Amino acid sequence: MKSKHESFLDLVIYQIYHRSFNDSNNDGIGDIPGVTEKLDYLCDLGINAIWLCPCFKSPNYDNGYDVSDYRDIMDEFGTFEDVKKLISEMNKRGMKLIMDLVPNHTSNEHKWFIESRKSKDNPYSDYYYWFDEPANEWRAEFGGSVWEYDESRKQYYLHSYAVQQPDLNWENPKVVKEMQDIIDFWIDQGVSGFRIDVIDQISKDFSKSNCFGPHLHEYIQAMFDREKTKDLFTVGECFAGSIDEIRRHIDEDRNELSTLFQFNHLQLGRENKWTPKKQSLKVMRDTIVNWQTLFQENDLLHSLFTDNHDNSYLVSRMGNDKELRYESATCMAVMTYLMKGVPFIYQGQEFGLTQSNYDDISCFNDIECINAYNEFIDSGISKEEAIKKISFGSRDNARRPIPWDNSKNYGFSDAQPWIPVHSRADELNLENDMKSEKSVFKFYKKMLKLRKDNVAFRKGEFKMLSSSDDGFFVYTRSYNGEKFTVVCNFEEEAKISFEGMDGEVVLSNYNAYDASDRKDNCFKPYEIAVYKN
Ligand code: GLC
Ligand code: CA
Repeated sequence: MKSKHESFLDLVIYQIYHRSFNDSNNDGIGDIPGVTEKLDYLCDLGINAIWLCPCFKSPNYDNGYDVSDYRDIMDEFGTFEDVKKLISEMNKRGMKLIMDLVPNHTSNEHKWFIESRKSKDNPYSDYYYWFDEPANEWRAEFGGSVWEYDESRKQYYLHSYAVQQPDLNWENPKVVKEMQDIIDFWIDQGVSGFRIDVIDQISKDFSKSNCFGPHLHEYIQAMFDREKTKDLFTVGECFAGSIDEIRRHIDEDRNELSTLFQFNHLQLGRENKWTPKKQSLKVMRDTIVNWQTLFQENDLLHSLFTDNHDNSYLVSRMGNDKELRYESATCMAVMTYLMKGVPFIYQGQEFGLTQSNYDDISCFNDIECINAYNEFIDSGISKEEAIKKISFGSRDNARRPIPWDNSKNYGFSDAQPWIPVHSRADELNLENDMKSEKSVFKFYKKMLKLRKDNVAFRKGEFKMLSSSDDGFFVYTRSYNGEKFTVVCNFEEEAKISFEGMDGEVVLSNYNAYDASDRKDNCFKPYEIAVYKN
């Protein structure tokens, strides 16, 4: 890997969904000053970069992913000055800010769309896709057709997501220029990188698919293959499913993206978005090893993550989030974050948050799940069954206010939060975690320190040792003669023996006994041990 991408292996990124992170002015909505207040907490954990979900002006149909002004801040989140203050406070602590760029669509309240819909011959008329008739049968991500008739223009426009999120027409060079200017504007404010929303969709082929269109890479290069953007860290939210597609996005020589999110392992533990499926950590191991190996062989920068704002916490689908919550949360962390790549930790993961459980639709907010609920009911599914599906799959699972402590509203806000808090907040809050002998936070902190102190975990070669028929994930990381062996046991107590397991134990999640004196090489459920060889 060349030096530029290799240097990104030092990043440890924390994703913040600020609406639910910390409310500084007690109106029930998390905000930018609320993020600034928690910077020392994040530094203490070992974080050196933040990916902030969209905080731009937005009418909020899709919680900020429907932007109406890319150069200003949503009132609920604070002011432009608050963002500048956040950046300067982050700089003082050596932290980098990664903003969330949404180039595929805007809000229907963006001035470009307001103008565009007025007529076929105004300066913005070709900023979006307009057709006299629906050009195909595509379905929108959030339900219904992607084509919406507009009374004023008397044409249909394309929206891959909600009706309120019209897709931008990247075939129009003016749109490309607008997006370049927005990127440059934020670079000038001191932003160090971008997470780019549904990037594969910006080029379409109307006869085939609304992603991977013929000009995709041209548009990505237009954004990021420029002098001004050459030092940015960029991570694309991608549908790229094959290694060739991935190479086309992030091969360093192409000057497109630094890395991307690859979502195979996030589909684990469920049949589909709304239906669970029992699967073991073995499948998770095989999936992540496959991608880890491919990225390594191709000299590409990988991203390591299990959670984000669009999914319930993976520990609830793939681990045991009841009696063995600490053990499975820490085991999955080691399976993920000691591998080679850039770690992304989603808020709440660092103290073992799980999925919530609610049995009334009024406890949900997200447009995707509300639309899905209505479709379930319309299709004849009972209310009980429908709400079970929503409670399992809703994106709100990752968007409940962070329970910091045992005070009013769990320390998130003095006011009623915008969405009901986590259903297990009495039990699962940071204060309780910190007091517990089994603190997920303290484990994460130790694990991240180990990663920071040893270059082998950042740049070292990854090698998988366990075989497909055992219940273990065993791998080594080595660099310039320095070597570590990582052992993760899956659900059941089991025995295993490997060369490398005689070293000093430098990380363990069962502190009840000295893991170096392990009897018969027996590992307890979800037990991990990291040996220094
Ligand atoms: C991405 C975002 C998601 C959003 C969608 C449309 O998938 O992560 O939250 O709803 O794009 O912008
Ligand atoms: Ca607030």
